[in-house]
Amino acid sequence: MSTQPRIGDLSAAERNKRPIFDALADWLVDARDILEIGSGDGTHARYARERLPHARWQTSEAPGHIRGLTAALVDAHDEARLPSPLALDVRSAWPAQRYDAIFAANVAHIMHEDAVAAMFAGVASHLVAGGLFCLYGPFFDDDETPGEGNLAFDRALRSRDPGMGIRRREALDALAGQHGLVRVARLVMPSDNRLLIWRRDAD
Ligand SMILES: C[S@@+](CC[C@H](N)C(=O)[O-])C[C@H]1O[C@@H](n2cnc3c(N)ncnc32)[C@H](O)[C@@H]1O
Repeated sequence: MSTQPRIGDLSAAERNKRPIFDALADWLVDARDILEIGSGDGTHARYARERLPHARWQTSEAPGHIRGLTAALVDAHDEARLPSPLALDVRSAWPAQRYDAIFAANVAHIMHEDAVAAMFAGVASHLVAGGLFCLYGPFFDDDETPGEGNLAFDRALRSRDPGMGIRRREALDALAGQHGLVRVARLVMPSDNRLLIWRRDAD
């Protein structure tokens, strides 16, 4: 999917990977099995192998993008730590496994609302009790004045596809709450992004 602004020669994922994993490191210190939704070109997954050497990072992509992801990661394949990508559309069947954490970057504004809702439902039923859902990207928030950059990005997304758009943090919290997920962090990240983290309640 091409909604990744490039500045100079670096993709958005190349630029944001370090701040994301700096912020995630303490949260994921005990996470062994981690699922990534919408892994894109695998940039975060490659970096995860470096930053979270204890973890098994399971990448995934919507079926239409799985070949590109698989090709991008072929040289990095490692069954114990970076296994082959899974085809996963969050609106369809999920793997029959539970994860200690689930991560996704820059997916909520690309997915339509039905897919965002399906993602929260799927996440909640595929996390272990106490597991974390870590969602990075731009969000609007009633507590914050929206930045010009995010307002323009939101307009551009909606003019390209009315189903896309930057999601409100409150709406995501409400969806999360419906599925037993409680938000435990709202971290400010570079370029007016946020890292939102929810924890799944005990069974
Ligand atoms: C802007 S890209 C972000 C890619 C990568 N996470 C990154 O940060 O570079 C959005 C991703 O969401 C994925 N996506 C969109 N709808 C999806 C769905 N219904 N299920 C799973 N992934 C989806 C796209 O295939 C795409 O890879």
